[in-house]
Amino acid sequence: MTDQTSRTGPAAARGEREVLILNALPHPVILLDEANKVCSANDAAQSFFQASASVLSRHPLGHFVPFGSPLLQLVDQVRERGSSVNEYRVDVGTPRIGGERIVDIYAAPAADQPNFVVVMLQERTMADKMDRQLTHRGAARSVTGLAAMLAHEIKNPLSGIRGAAQLLEQSATDDDRALTQLITDEADRIVKLVDRMEVFSDERPIEREPVNIHAVLEHVKRLALSGFARHIRIIEEYDPSLPPVYANRDQLVQVFLNLVKNAAEALVDTSDAEIVLTTAFRPGVRLSIPGTRERVSLPLEFCVRDNGPGVPDEIQTHMFDPFVTTKTNGTGLGLALVAKIVGDHGGVIECDSQPRRTTFRLLLPAYVDKSAD
Ligand SMILES: Nc1ncnc2c1ncn2[C@@H]1O[C@H](COP(=O)(O)OP(=O)(O)OP(=O)(O)O)[C@@H](O)[C@H]1O
Ligand SMILES: [Mg+2]
Repeated sequence: MTDQTSRTGPAAARGEREVLILNALPHPVILLDEANKVCSANDAAQSFFQASASVLSRHPLGHFVPFGSPLLQLVDQVRERGSSVNEYRVDVGTPRIGGERIVDIYAAPAADQPNFVVVMLQERTMADKMDRQLTHRGAARSVTGLAAMLAHEIKNPLSGIRGAAQLLEQSATDDDRALTQLITDEADRIVKLVDRMEVFSDERPIEREPVNIHAVLEHVKRLALSGFARHIRIIEEYDPSLPPVYANRDQLVQVFLNLVKNAAEALVDTSDAEIVLTTAFRPGVRLSIPGTRERVSLPLEFCVRDNGPGVPDEIQTHMFDPFVTTKTNGTGLGLALVAKIVGDHGGVIECDSQPRRTTFRLLLPAYVDKSAD
């Protein structure tokens, strides 16, 4: 942060501390003088506008945002009213700083400088992703009732159909046997589908314990390499000092198996196909729980990345919903199940997809050993 006013003594020390605070903020903060020149900008603002503080200070704000930008009107309003004004979901993108940059704007008069205005921008991406993630949980839940009903109403008659087909098979001609075989195979397929859906109706609290994620990933990798991902390179980028995750081991295996399987299926036409598994510790990630004031810490980050063609645009916003699939033989339950399990664990999953780089990112709570206090 550059500050054009020089100070000495305790005021200077306090000024330096304020600069430290402002530079530690992840959100861009700027101070505008009466001519709208950017006379002060924290580190985040310099990187947002892709200009150093001295370049910023040489031009009025209008130079860095599009002509007629709502940001400029907002600043004028602050001066007129003498009070703060906020606006949400404003696009301040320019070709220079990147096409679409959706931000929330908080603008307020600077306390002791007439007509100076302080502006803070908050990028929407992360907040939006979290909102979206929270709705995935609802989507998974809506299958719950349906799944319970299906299990009852379909599995019993199916086993009758299957048994009858097997009886017929005993006295059937070769041609007819092909048909009875078809009946039993298809019945088995439906039973498998219903079994997969039954997981959604299981509302019992999950049994959790401290789990070593690297052992889980090793297991998934072995399964993948001996089957569906036989010809794909799997690269591990692990933080070996990672604390255990507080989870149900079997369910975690399911989550990663589904993600790695999707990646492998997306990579069928890629010649240099590779899947990267990463683990990292991010102590700063916190999520507020909707409807409460509670905030949970989700410091464990696991990613499954592939260099395939990416998730098709038309399903990007609802790929975690059940029955969304682009595959001829897909059920579209894989990611819905992943979202349900991650939600049951109090975690978050999100996807960032572009051609040659699709990342599914999971954030989960760490195991806290209470006896250690
Ligand atoms: N890594 C990926 N790259 C590209 N597209 C993906 C990837 N992962 C998922 N998708 C897309 O998301 C859709 C939904 O995935 P999901 O796992 O829920 O179902 P599915 O894989 O189609 O079926 P199933 O998991 O039952 O075999 C897929 O059909 C695919 O289009
Ligand atoms: Mg799948």
